[in-house]
Amino acid sequence: MDGAYINLLIESVNQQLLPGLLIESVDPHNPVKVHHLPDPWRLVGTGNYAAVVYHPDYPNQVVKIYAPGRPGFEEEVEVYRTLGSHPAFSECLYAKDNFLVLKRLHGVTLYDCMHLGRQIPKQVIQDIDFALDYAHSLGLYPHDVHGRNVMMFQGRGLVVDVSDFLHQETCSKWNDLKKAYYWLYLPLLSPLRLRVPYFVLDVVRISYRLGARFMDRLCSLLSNATVKFSRLSKSSG
Ligand SMILES: Nc1ncnc2c1ncn2[C@@H]1O[C@H](COP(=O)(O)OP(=O)(O)O)[C@@H](O)[C@H]1O
Ligand SMILES: [Mg+2]
Repeated sequence: MDGAYINLLIESVNQQLLPGLLIESVDPHNPVKVHHLPDPWRLVGTGNYAAVVYHPDYPNQVVKIYAPGRPGFEEEVEVYRTLGSHPAFSECLYAKDNFLVLKRLHGVTLYDCMHLGRQIPKQVIQDIDFALDYAHSLGLYPHDVHGRNVMMFQGRGLVVDVSDFLHQETCSKWNDLKKAYYWLYLPLLSPLRLRVPYFVLDVVRISYRLGARFMDRLCSLLSNATVKFSRLSKSSG
């Protein structure tokens, strides 16, 4: 990568983008709101913590900017340092003051594939599995891998968001998504070539989150009850 080229991009970020950009994360469970994006910058996507934009003169790079008050910037830089170069991941070209310049991954998130009625071949799922195994082999913990954090490009799978890969607690999102893919999508949805409206996808997303939270509470309640019961039976025995 040409250093002078990236320096020009960084200059544009500092002089054009950041002074005019207005983003807000209203709720950590929903995508950030972009209130103002200076011309000629274009929005690529939004996550729950950050907005991702590009400049038409630099079509192969994106700039990911964290919304004020949202954590994760330093961790994401650290994860990219660990990942190095891999075909299924982006690369961090520069990072400072809550923004990262990343290699642009061209593709459509699996979430948007469902909306557009695009067929998702098994290869995509397998590529993502291999990429996550690679990350794991480097001591990272693939975390928060869901439909808006993975992409499909020319029939291959990509992982677009690695910001939580230092979080050690188990995360079942990718395994649950795979189950839904093999049990629901492949046999039922894929042959119908359904275009799923965003509001339905959002209902699924929110129900999943609430369902997972309910299961977490239930599990901790049951494990507390088990501990109390075993203490009680020991003291009475
Ligand atoms: N390197 C990239 N190349 C292309 N698009 C990207 C890239 N990184 C992120 N995006 C797009 O921006 C969206 C939000 O980015 P993401 O990293 O998931 O933010 P957050 O950490 O807030 O969840 C993604 O769903 C994807 O559409
Ligand atoms: Mg994300």
